[in-house]
Amino acid sequence: MRTLVNLDGSLVAPSEAKVSVFDRGFLYGDSVYEVIRTYGGRPFELRAHLDRLAHSAGRIALTPRWDADRARAEIDRTLAAARGAEAPDPEAAPWNRGERYIRVVMTRGAGEIGLDPALAVDPLAIVIVQPLSGPPARAYAEGVPAAIVGVRRASTKAVDPSAKTGAHLTHVLAVREARAAGAYEALLLDDAGFVTEGSSSNVFAVSAGRVLTPPLAAGILEGVTRAVVLRLARAAGLPVEEVALRPLDLETADELFITSTVREILPVTRLGDSRVGSGRPGPVTLRLHAAFREAATV
Ligand code: PDD
Repeated sequence: MRTLVNLDGSLVAPSEAKVSVFDRGFLYGDSVYEVIRTYGGRPFELRAHLDRLAHSAGRIALTPRWDADRARAEIDRTLAAARGAEAPDPEAAPWNRGERYIRVVMTRGAGEIGLDPALAVDPLAIVIVQPLSGPPARAYAEGVPAAIVGVRRASTKAVDPSAKTGAHLTHVLAVREARAAGAYEALLLDDAGFVTEGSSSNVFAVSAGRVLTPPLAAGILEGVTRAVVLRLARAAGLPVEEVALRPLDLETADELFITSTVREILPVTRLGDSRVGSGRPGPVTLRLHAAFREAATV
């Protein structure tokens, strides 16, 4: 399979996929987006992603070029055109082999330079389809290191965290800090010191058999994977609490994991310089991931 870009309805190769330097997505991060993945070649939880795209657009008063039906049709068309064999990756987790990563981006468009959104004249719609490269099988078997970074989540008075927008500098700097500390994912606190989410994931802790995650009111993205995991945990009869968490709650947890579309449920076995629980992926994490695997299998 190849990487293919749908640029406003035209299917083009990555080398041809160019947008104007006057596009506000480029100049200001004035855009909304979704990351979707396939199982068995079909997009997973597509409706939830398109609903969230509409929510994000509404939160920043952006009128997308395409409505949900058109977006769905263009995603299907792009996936179909990108079909083809690819070299197998021996490191890949089995559920990531041969699958697709889909990024849908809607920008407010180009226009005369200036912050006023009324200057935008040409909203742009993009679908990028490429081979999914999720975490390797080893990351699921051993877990990954995370770090609580100094970079704070932007104030919810300034930025609405429930909108998935292209303005990502906070997350970029958070990842930079985490990687410098040898960690894979950055966990961000808010100004009051409460845990919010990862740079591109939601975070869960397991303590004394309870599954804990910050509530939406903590100022986080309502992760599609988070919602699936909460549903599965409740269906499995596990006690679940959406509750404010402090760094100490993560540091003393028996298990930690992060969730996102591309990662599913990924165990976190180190937090900063310390081991999480036994230092191995924990039983509740593994049980939830097994349930997720079943739910996602088509
Ligand atoms: N990131 N929190 C943030 C800030 C995110 O950017 C993401 C997703 C999530 C998890 O959401 P979901 O389960 O719907 O993927 C939480 C995507 C994958 C990305 O930007 O690549």
